[in-house]
Amino acid sequence: MPSPPRHVLITGGSRGIGLSIAQAFAAQNYRCTLISRSEAALQTAISSLTPPSTSAHRYIPGSISSPSFWTTTNFKESGLDKGDPESRIDVLVNCAGITQSRLFTTTPEDEIRQIVDTNLTGLMLGTRFLLRNKYLHSTRRMRGEEATGFTPSVVNVASLLGVSGGYGAVAYAASKAGVLGFTRALAGEYVGHGVRVNAIVPGYVESDMTKDLNTAQLQDRIPLKRFGRPEEIAHAALFLAENHELETASQNLCEKTDANMFQKMRVAAESIVRRRESAW
Ligand SMILES: NC(=O)c1ccc[n+]([C@@H]2O[C@H](COP(=O)([O-])OP(=O)(O)OC[C@H]3O[C@@H](n4cnc5c(N)ncnc54)[C@H](OP(=O)(O)O)[C@@H]3O)[C@@H](O)[C@H]2O)c1
Repeated sequence: MPSPPRHVLITGGSRGIGLSIAQAFAAQNYRCTLISRSEAALQTAISSLTPPSTSAHRYIPGSISSPSFWTTTNFKESGLDKGDPESRIDVLVNCAGITQSRLFTTTPEDEIRQIVDTNLTGLMLGTRFLLRNKYLHSTRRMRGEEATGFTPSVVNVASLLGVSGGYGAVAYAASKAGVLGFTRALAGEYVGHGVRVNAIVPGYVESDMTKDLNTAQLQDRIPLKRFGRPEEIAHAALFLAENHELETASQNLCEKTDANMFQKMRVAAESIVRRRESAW
């Protein structure tokens, strides 16, 4: 009997990297649930997704940093009912994020809080909610998934600034370093539960977030001499979701890797995709 389409939930799925990730997963027959604050942007995003069919995709509008967003009532109203097998999430991609461009001492308290609340606290609250309420959990034995090797996973979108720092982005860098710590710790806690936790660590990527940066100056410091493209991060997310060997926290550096290494990663992701296509 063919397995039902897998289900991916993507925070920040309305545009930029998150939307590209949604498009990549939808093209591989995943059902997508997208989250962002703008309902209009979510509707446009959903309409850009390929089959299984647009009716299979959903969205939940709201702010991930608000504790009242992560409730079973809110999820039920959006069609994701706790305990319903159809609401089970196979892959969670934590991609929603905001940035800043301001020196640390001039950054207002509100802005520091908003950055940490969105990029780190919201990400943790959401992940905890989904694990605690068993939207995201391993049912390998129940569904015989051991045969296919697929295990549910969390993919966190961190940032290279969380590793190397960044001028004018102290709170942002701190929040993303927190995402990496969270990834490692949760991976350790959940490895025995059959849920994998990984992180992607992109350098600069073309999106609304980077459109006002001095591109020419920054590109000069990048080995590839260009910003990454959202679809390249989407390849990495798909690779992490589908490669069940990646049991522990894993960082995939996009900007600092040389072209050859990044190419290898794309090839690996693509070969997994092909293997899956041929299996179906
Ligand atoms: N672009 C880069 O160079 C780069 C590099 C490294 C890492 N990243 C990370 O990649 C992720 C995506 O970035 P991007 O470049 O695609 O940025 P983007 O184009 O600005 O998209 C950000 C997404 O997050 C959503 N979002 C923001 N705050 C939210 C909140 N409180 N609740 C729910 N959704 C929220 C936005 O939708 P709404 O505004 O409608 O809520 C949007 O969908 C972020 O975590 C970012 O830190 C980006």
